[in-house]
Amino acid sequence: MADEDLRKIDVEALTPGQAASELERLAREIAHHDALYYAQDNPEISDAAYDALRRRNEAIEARFPELRRADSPSERVGMAPSEGFGKIRHRVAMLSLDNAFEDEDVVEFVGRVRRFLGLVEDAPLELVAEPKIDGLSISLRYDRGRFVEAATRGDGTQGENVTANVLTIKSIPHVLKGKDVPETIDIRGEIFMDHADFQNLNVQQAASGAKIFANPRNAAAGSLRQLDPKLTAKRPLRFFAYGWGEASSLPTETQSGVVEAMGRWGLPINPRMTLCAGAEELLAYYQQLAMDRARLDYDIDGVVYKVNRLDYQLRLGFISRSPRWATAHKFPAEQAMTILRDIDIQVGRTGALTPVAKLEPVTVGGVVVSNATLHNEDEIARKDIRIGDTVVVQRAGDVIPQIVSVVLEKRPEGAEAYQFPKVCPVCGSHAVRETDEKSGRRDVVRRCTGGLICEAQQVERLKHFVSRNAFDIEGLGEKTIAAFHRDGLIQSPADIFRLQHKDTQADLKIEEREGWGPQSAQKLFASIEARREIGLDRFIYALGIRHVGETTAKVLARSYGTLENFEAQMRAAGQDEAGEAFADLVNINGIGKVVAEAIAEFFAEPHNIEVLRELHKEVRTVPVETVASDTAVAGKTVVFTGSLEKMTRSEAKAQAERLGAKVAGSVSKKTDYVVAGADAGSKLNKARELGVTVLSEDDWLGLTGG
Ligand code: IVH
Repeated sequence: MADEDLRKIDVEALTPGQAASELERLAREIAHHDALYYAQDNPEISDAAYDALRRRNEAIEARFPELRRADSPSERVGMAPSEGFGKIRHRVAMLSLDNAFEDEDVVEFVGRVRRFLGLVEDAPLELVAEPKIDGLSISLRYDRGRFVEAATRGDGTQGENVTANVLTIKSIPHVLKGKDVPETIDIRGEIFMDHADFQNLNVQQAASGAKIFANPRNAAAGSLRQLDPKLTAKRPLRFFAYGWGEASSLPTETQSGVVEAMGRWGLPINPRMTLCAGAEELLAYYQQLAMDRARLDYDIDGVVYKVNRLDYQLRLGFISRSPRWATAHKFPAEQAMTILRDIDIQVGRTGALTPVAKLEPVTVGGVVVSNATLHNEDEIARKDIRIGDTVVVQRAGDVIPQIVSVVLEKRPEGAEAYQFPKVCPVCGSHAVRETDEKSGRRDVVRRCTGGLICEAQQVERLKHFVSRNAFDIEGLGEKTIAAFHRDGLIQSPADIFRLQHKDTQADLKIEEREGWGPQSAQKLFASIEARREIGLDRFIYALGIRHVGETTAKVLARSYGTLENFEAQMRAAGQDEAGEAFADLVNINGIGKVVAEAIAEFFAEPHNIEVLRELHKEVRTVPVETVASDTAVAGKTVVFTGSLEKMTRSEAKAQAERLGAKVAGSVSKKTDYVVAGADAGSKLNKARELGVTVLSEDDWLGLTGG
């Protein structure tokens, strides 16, 4: 009897032979759907259909317990298939690196480090140069030398628990050897697949009709994220250690020393790690590696430079999401030629009209590219890009592909200069380029004037609202939000929190929708509920105010403390840009004029106030933790003036912020301390006038514990 017919037979009527065949088929099918759902986020059947497969499997097993298979899907219930991977919170965040593209950027990086540290001209500064492996980063926890847990980078704060899979990677030791292994340490490094293994895997995938991977990085990521560790075990993954997160102690005082120690403990480390004395040596290393690149048996996408002394690293600290003590020097982009088929105009959340090139698909550096950014109207005119043109496309790392130039000799006859639309393609409102009143300069971006009547802007704002660094609601991705918006379920951010209620009145319930089921709908409602309480910084970021990124949102949240205070002050700033609230805003370290104006504009707009009013009914914000709350200067506002001797101005600011203080640019009644170095001028006078406490550099160091 054919498989097809077996499926129709009631469990009660199956013969043992038929039951065995059915169990085999169900194991295969369920594993297939699990992989689509969990590893690729791309299910092909509804939750209901999936549940039916599982129920049938269980019923057959209940009737024929002796036929239960070793790879039975019911073995995995409760663990992977229903939950995906568990989450692990990184004890020390996994950050990213700043990028350098040109030689000058590297010279500038070294200069910046030296200035920050206040190093005199001939003071030595050692840096480590090493290949930037094109894989995926991982954190491995070792407790008393034993491997206990592995997590992917995730959003940098929280990653996925891939311990079972990492256990199958042969080069990762389960036990570290050596007397100087710390009590606990998170080893950080890169998981990757080498070229030969990648080729072999794709040959096998092709033979079994499975997905072909575009490059070794995707193959490594796909392999590590298999829900069944047995599958990961069959994929030859490799690992290089290059850093660490939390560590109870460290064996030496340099970057290279610690990594070399990791090598002695039994971890694979990259043999090309090299010590350099300055920018010139870094650049020579880069040139050499660029030449050797093709001969390496794994993919690299640049070189990473790191300040070697750990005490320097500590002083340099971090800016936003990347360390000041390291940078990635990327290899130049790869290029290819293709035809520009069309230009699509997308409308963003602030109404910006962005042209996107629709290309004849072409492979650039191992990845198929069919879209590229065209930036803006002027860029198209400057390069005279016309539909039908043959163009040179370039791709560098994770950066969106770009069009570099047009091959004029290949221009088809009659191709006309591109006319950028003057109306919004979505809502038909005028699209205009504003002129800055003061500078008289015309904005490069043309914007739809429709505001929230423009569907595109509504949807984009909603997408931003639920994005990873904003409300981050699991199960409510870009596609879902667009669909719910289209069907009238969600119009404004507050509607998200009314979704469950709205759903009870809808004709088509979420659980009945394509790709949904009772379980996934309940899960979505639960993740929405979980977000009724949210950090003020995420909340501010979620509003989607122009120029207010994650870092600025954090600064604002710290400076204003509560949503009520923030809102009141910003509304005041919005009403009067000459008033005190606006002046206070601009005075915050890290908030420039452009940002302050964008915030004021946002709060001067009645429909934004309405969005906030509605959100107040649904969501509660909690203050962000200041970097430190138990220091003598936490929460205090400090102004540095004059020339400091023991540290540079940037270092002083960074240190103050690390200790929870707010650093301001000018002195006002709200200033708690003015730290005055030599030759302090007007700010010092102002402080005296207002009766603000004035500290010497030594007083300050005494107060902050040096
Ligand atoms: S050090 C604070 N060293 O590059 C971040 N990263 O663009 C320290 N990467 O997420 C990272 N090779 O996945 C470092 N030798 C290397 C690396 C490396 C590859 C990756 C890593 C990181 C990304 C940042």
